[in-house]
Order: sequence, then C-alpha cells, then structure tokens
Amino acid sequence: MSSDALYQELILEHNRKPRNFGEIEGADRVVEGRNPLCGDEVRLSLKLDGDRIADVKFVSPPGKGCAISKASASLMTAAVKGKPTAEAERLFESFHKLVRGELSEDEQRALGSLRAFAGVAKFPMRVKCASLAWHALHSALAGGAGEVTTDDRAHGPPATEGA
Ligand code: FES
Repeated sequence: MSSDALYQELILEHNRKPRNFGEIEGADRVVEGRNPLCGDEVRLSLKLDGDRIADVKFVSPPGKGCAISKASASLMTAAVKGKPTAEAERLFESFHKLVRGELSEDEQRALGSLRAFAGVAKFPMRVKCASLAWHALHSALAGGAGEVTTDDRAHGPPATEGA
C-alpha cells in the first residue's frame, strides 16, 4: 500500500471512530469552531492542569462535520492531550504550514500521524476542513471562548467572528 493510501485509510478510520469524541464536564475552555464556507462546526472542550492540556474532547453536531474535519479533530486531540500548551501551540503552527504545503519532507515526518493531512495542500477548500479543530484549539489556548472561524489570520490573535 502506498503511503498516500495509508494516510487516506488513517483519515477514514479516525472519521469512523473518532478519538476523544464528547464533551468535558467542567471544562476550563469551550470554543466553537465554524467553517464559514460550509457551516460545519466543531465544539472543543479543554481541561488544563497548569501549563498542560490534561484533557481535550470534541463534538460535531450531526451532519455538521465532513470526514476530513472530524478525522483532523480526532488526530489533533490525540496529538495534544497531555502535552504542554506551548508544545500544542507549536504543533498548531506546524500543522498550519503542513496543510499549506510549506514544510520540508523532514519537517513533515516529524509530525507523525498528522502528516496524513499533507495532501490537502492541493485542495484549498479542504485546508479549512483540516484546520477547523486546530483553530478552535488555538483560540482556546489563547483564553478564548465562544466562536472562532477558519480565518486565515491564524498567526495573529484568534480570528473570532466579526473581527
Ligand atoms: Fe465543511 Fe469540511 S466541508 S468542514
């Protein structure tokens, strides 16, 4: 099986059986991510333990998340759970570069399973799908709450609606 096919299978598998799916009771941060292009949503809840992400979960309302957005949320939560917040932010930056086709082969390899989304760089609409949960995470870590969209201003302050 080619590595492209393996990555595609990984995405399909995480869509079928998403990890960390649900809501955290008593979460420290809750952010709704929304893709304005399609109206899809992901709701991310986060529990912090000092500077560490103690727990992270997501839900997409029924019919409000495509396979890529769900698989990406699943892989994202698996990647950042238990990690220091600074490391999660670094992963956010790297993932953003990955889906825009801005990482070298070595840099892609360092991302492990997240590398499965490198192929979306060829499909601008899909970049938003893959980034949806990451934007919600970025906003949550920045102390945000409420709603965030998949705006391209990912390197500035959280792109909240209307901002
Ligand atoms: Fe809406 Fe993918 S089509 S997030």
